[in-house]
Amino acid sequence: MQMAEKTRKHLHPHATKETTANKQTCAIETSGLCKTYPNGTKALNNITLTIGESEFIVILGPSGAGKSTLLRSMNRLIEPTCGKIMLMGKDVTHVGGHHLRHIRRRVGMIFQQFNLVRRLTVLENVMAGRLPHCTGFIRGGLSLLRIFTRREREIAFECLSKVHIENLAFQRADTLSGGQQQRVAIARTLAQEPELILADEPVASLDPASAEIVMQTLLDIHENQHIPVIVNLHQIDLGRRYGKRIIGMNSGAICFDGAPESLDNQMLQLIYGKELDSGLGRISRKKTEKDKIPDRPTANLLESSFVGME
Ligand SMILES: Nc1ncnc2c1ncn2[C@@H]1O[C@H](COP(=O)(O)OP(=O)(O)OP(=O)(O)O)[C@@H](O)[C@H]1O
Ligand SMILES: [Mg+2]
Repeated sequence: MQMAEKTRKHLHPHATKETTANKQTCAIETSGLCKTYPNGTKALNNITLTIGESEFIVILGPSGAGKSTLLRSMNRLIEPTCGKIMLMGKDVTHVGGHHLRHIRRRVGMIFQQFNLVRRLTVLENVMAGRLPHCTGFIRGGLSLLRIFTRREREIAFECLSKVHIENLAFQRADTLSGGQQQRVAIARTLAQEPELILADEPVASLDPASAEIVMQTLLDIHENQHIPVIVNLHQIDLGRRYGKRIIGMNSGAICFDGAPESLDNQMLQLIYGKELDSGLGRISRKKTEKDKIPDRPTANLLESSFVGME
């Protein structure tokens, strides 16, 4: 009974703040969002979420909980089976064509594997983030000739300086450490001028020190540029320290939604169930069905931050 009461409370922690939250524009809202994959896997089950423009959210949950599916549904990299998605107050559930490309330009996406073009320099990779801002014809020419205007180069440098790696501008991407590569990917996302950043396990391939730097970089961007950020993580400790609001998922549903201070062992048990190993503060990664599906080639830069752009 006590547990049920506590759970209910943590699913609605912002009740008192609702009046204020309603007044500001929401970055993203989902209502009744569901996703069933063609093989019958129910990855999302009735997800209703409201995320404000000033939020830094960490999504935690065991492997297979639906974290990536949720994030990818938000910018329609994955088509939800049912439900509604509102981005910055506009219904984007069914938009297509150039409207969809516009959405993807507004939503920056950061992935675990960085998705840089390895043989290009850091600066060229970041300038690629500007491509969605160019018209189709110019874009094609620019990407083929690797020519960018002076202004595009300046913007790329500004973005690199925001993640403190402008000194690496002329180095090839494949000569960088994982942490540096992820900061290039963040700079490329910034060059896109996103209104929302979604990061799917951005530190999963990094050592603890690099993971801290990348998380701090995301937090700095959020605080200095006022961009809402949603990060999927497997590291509970990082989530607690960086997240201003934690969303816990299990089996395609939200089972916790509250402040990091409220994320006690009981709540962690609720999110991770038997997989919880609170002593280590980390969760083993189980192989899931999706691990059997080969990745699309990473050489396709467009897959990373602006999929759907022609
Ligand atoms: N393309 C796909 N086809 C079929 N099933 C899929 C596909 N992608 C994901 N799934 C399944 O949907 C469920 C949710 O997967 P998802 O990748 O969203 O979980 P996750 O919480 O991100 O897991 P992880 O922490 O391992 O990244 C899992 O059962 C997974 O096997
Ligand atoms: Mg995932």
